[in-house]
Amino acid sequence: MVANEKSSKISGFYKLSIEQRIEIVKKFSDISDEDISNLKKPIDLSLADTMIENVIGTFEIPIGIAMNFTINGEDKLIPMATEESSVVAAASNAAKIARIHGGFKTEISDPLMIGQIQILGVKDIPKAASAIIEKKQEILKVANAQDKILVGLGGGAKDIEVRILETSNQEMIVVHLIVDVRDAMGANAVNTMVEALAPIMEELTDGYIRLKILSNLADKRIAKAKAVFDKEQMGGEKNIDAFLESYSLASIDPYRAATHNKGIMNGIDAVIVATGNDFRAIEAGAHAYAARKGQYSSLTKYSKDESGNLVGEIELPVAVGIVGGAGSIHPKAKFCKKILNIQSAKQLSEIIASVGLAQNFAAVFALSTVGIQKGHMSLHARNIAMMAGANKDELDIVAEKMVKEGNVRMDRAKEILESMK
Ligand code: MEV
Repeated sequence: MVANEKSSKISGFYKLSIEQRIEIVKKFSDISDEDISNLKKPIDLSLADTMIENVIGTFEIPIGIAMNFTINGEDKLIPMATEESSVVAAASNAAKIARIHGGFKTEISDPLMIGQIQILGVKDIPKAASAIIEKKQEILKVANAQDKILVGLGGGAKDIEVRILETSNQEMIVVHLIVDVRDAMGANAVNTMVEALAPIMEELTDGYIRLKILSNLADKRIAKAKAVFDKEQMGGEKNIDAFLESYSLASIDPYRAATHNKGIMNGIDAVIVATGNDFRAIEAGAHAYAARKGQYSSLTKYSKDESGNLVGEIELPVAVGIVGGAGSIHPKAKFCKKILNIQSAKQLSEIIASVGLAQNFAAVFALSTVGIQKGHMSLHARNIAMMAGANKDELDIVAEKMVKEGNVRMDRAKEILESMK
């Protein structure tokens, strides 16, 4: 069943018991018995109480492991935290088809985040804008004095950009502070810097500062992934053509693009949550980036290569960290990062872009061939069987019967259970 201990190409994982699955993950990665015991229980309420306000409990969602991923030549098992059925299986299937042609190849930019400073009430905007540009080095020095550790690691404020914008009744200057945040998500570092710059900005422009905050449109922190999906595995040319026809709607129509990109985020958010990152930040950045050309569109694109295989590409902002934030204190996020065996935010971005592409491929492939309900049905049928009162031994029998009959309903589940008694 397992090709070798460090290969992510594992078939039949879903048929194993949870204990057997954990054993395989343990052999693949560097997790301890303590990690495993943490995995099995909810986080301490006392820890939860330090994370947010007014805590009364914790909320559990499942962590599944996606198989078959090869990313830049390295095999990865990918923990995904999601409540949605079929997501983990779909990502694993897509990765299996992609690995035939070498898996996912990625390209990740420097980890540059943008902080915005909004300056209002400026009498002479061109003069104020020039004054800011002239004092760039001084401004960067003030920003970098806020985070010596980041600067020591080779990061810190690197540049500024000055924009002039207007509403119907007001002109304003918006300064972008460009900060290399290294392995952090960067919100804290950037927000501290832009707040510290308020006095110098007021002095230079003779205006007043209103907003000083990070932008989630992290369009200088871009992750790209590419993969070739094998023609034969996809059932030949007709299925590739069907795929491209389905995809074409997402490239021209925002109604479809929103759903298409939602499918991408099914995979991405699951890794973001599993690693303790901020999924709202990633969502905001991804959707804003999808609309960067003036019309909301697909974050992926597809074409055929000269052998007729399908080539998929994804490009989106990925503002994630492996240090700081909830990911550094939440035991399950720490555990998931160990499984991923990542040493940098860049490596996490490579995984996130690859999973997004895999998830999107799987959804569009299913939609353009059998539809997605077929894949969803067997887990859905198990849920219905469970709700109808099936025990562990009855669950699969009831679910399989309902799927076979194409009649997955609570009343039918109850009837089947009754007939078994
Ligand atoms: C469902 O969670 C996601 C899909 O709707 C994505 C898509 O339509 O591409 C299946």
